[in-house]
Amino acid sequence: MHKGTAFTQEERASLGLEGLLPTAVETLDRQVERVLGHLGAKPNDIERFIYLQELSNSNQTLFYATVMSDPARFVPIVYDPTIAEACLTYGHIYRRPQGMYLNRHMKGRFEEVLRNWPVKEVRFICVSSGGRILGLGDIGANGAPIPIGKLQLYTACAGVPPEGLLPIHLDIGTTNAALRADALYTGLREEPPEPDAVDAIVDAFMKAANAVFPGVCVHFEDWKGDDAIRLLERYRDRYLVYNDDIQGTASVALAGIVTALQIKGAALADQRILFAGAGSAGTGIADMIVEAMRGEGLSEGEARARIALFDIGGLIEKGRKDLNASQKPFAHDWKPTEDLTDAVKQIRPTILIGVSTVGGLFTEAVVRTMARTCERPVIFPLSNPTEKAECTPEQAYEWTGGKALVACGVPFPDVTLDGRTFHPGQANNFYIFPAIGLAVQATKPKRIDDAMFIEAARATADQVSQADRDKGMLFPRQNNILETERTTATRVAESIFERGLATVKRLTDIRAFIESLSYTPGY
Ligand code: NAI
Repeated sequence: MHKGTAFTQEERASLGLEGLLPTAVETLDRQVERVLGHLGAKPNDIERFIYLQELSNSNQTLFYATVMSDPARFVPIVYDPTIAEACLTYGHIYRRPQGMYLNRHMKGRFEEVLRNWPVKEVRFICVSSGGRILGLGDIGANGAPIPIGKLQLYTACAGVPPEGLLPIHLDIGTTNAALRADALYTGLREEPPEPDAVDAIVDAFMKAANAVFPGVCVHFEDWKGDDAIRLLERYRDRYLVYNDDIQGTASVALAGIVTALQIKGAALADQRILFAGAGSAGTGIADMIVEAMRGEGLSEGEARARIALFDIGGLIEKGRKDLNASQKPFAHDWKPTEDLTDAVKQIRPTILIGVSTVGGLFTEAVVRTMARTCERPVIFPLSNPTEKAECTPEQAYEWTGGKALVACGVPFPDVTLDGRTFHPGQANNFYIFPAIGLAVQATKPKRIDDAMFIEAARATADQVSQADRDKGMLFPRQNNILETERTTATRVAESIFERGLATVKRLTDIRAFIESLSYTPGY
């Protein structure tokens, strides 16, 4: 019944469906019209989310036709921010299974269990432990909607065919005692094991996934910060794997920086960058900027010297004894300080990036101090949800006299200041990972490396029109996302071929091939 009223008279007769469907035979467009009516009548986005997920189970074509009819409107419902609410209440709003649910007690049998998935040609797995979901912390099995929603964006934003996508929640347990005590919780009611045991579980999973689905690309999403960093390092040279929270985030932040510097007419290699927050997002962005600066001719040491990190313990400098392996390369000879304004005075950053999870951290003093030594400060308060943003775009524009170039982690409304209207950008990872997915599908690379994400960042930045740049927009418009991502995927695929990483023969017309791979909803 997956086509519903779109079954033709002939199909109804041959499939024994006569009398089981209303008389009218409808087109997909007519069905979308009805769905839009249903969605319009729902009282809020969480109800729309539930409706759309039910639709994706009963009629995938109609689901994608609806979402792709207006991605800018529906992506925030299918994914962030609405999905956060769905995660919080997952055990309570659960209707039916989607994707796969593996748990640590299946460790010796992952291969056997994965063979239960009915599709044999799986190209992408998105796997989450639920260990650090959006801004919600460890919510264990309540994070199950995340890989589902994330993979739906591959299709909705870049046209990656949905048949080859497999969302998996890998349940290693949760530290969240309140959830473990919830009668309707759907996961293991256990604490997660030590990191060594987590690694052994994920090793077994990766081995099984590659045995059952040879050449599969595994996208890690929303794992606890330490697990995320460690597992990416562990697998990046062994399997086709990447981590969106680290590499996707870094790439989209870099895309915003590249556009901002194009607007300023400045080179990345000449910037001084201060990060407020040195967790997985902060160090991930910093590492990718180092790679991008090396591409502009700096040595690794010179690039790292241009970047400073500031975390809950203050400015990261050589005297700090509490630094992890990702932070140590950014410990320079700074004067110790626990005051962010002091750090800004010392470092005189041209770019300030907030990934601290602390709302309001960019005070008026911080922003004004920065604006005193920098003509057009680049200020990215990326923490989310909204109340965690380090400052609002309005504050950033106001405190810099409209000079700041601003991108945030969540959408903010336009700001009008002294008769000028500004459009703060949203550094949304969805500009990047679906395009990477499409490029991976087209080229089947030996591995996925940071250079691909840097190319994706540059390609995304290059697609912001001059008219939009004039309004301070740092990312392409969302209503044309499919075309944008195809262009980005084409550039990434070209670079994969050029660097000899593809395992398929070089294509004569990469763009045409990417388009031919692309899924278009239809019966
Ligand atoms: P995390 O918890 O790993 O790191 C947070 C960091 O902030 C830590 O280094 C901590 O020491 C520091 N911090 C805490 N309080 C501070 C304070 N008062 N002053 C300075 N630093 C302080 O978190 P993660 O994963 O790195 O994410 C950070 C934020 O970035 C989150 O809010 C997340 O939503 C946001 N983010 C945004 C993305 C986007 O816009 N595309 C993508 C990924 C993350």
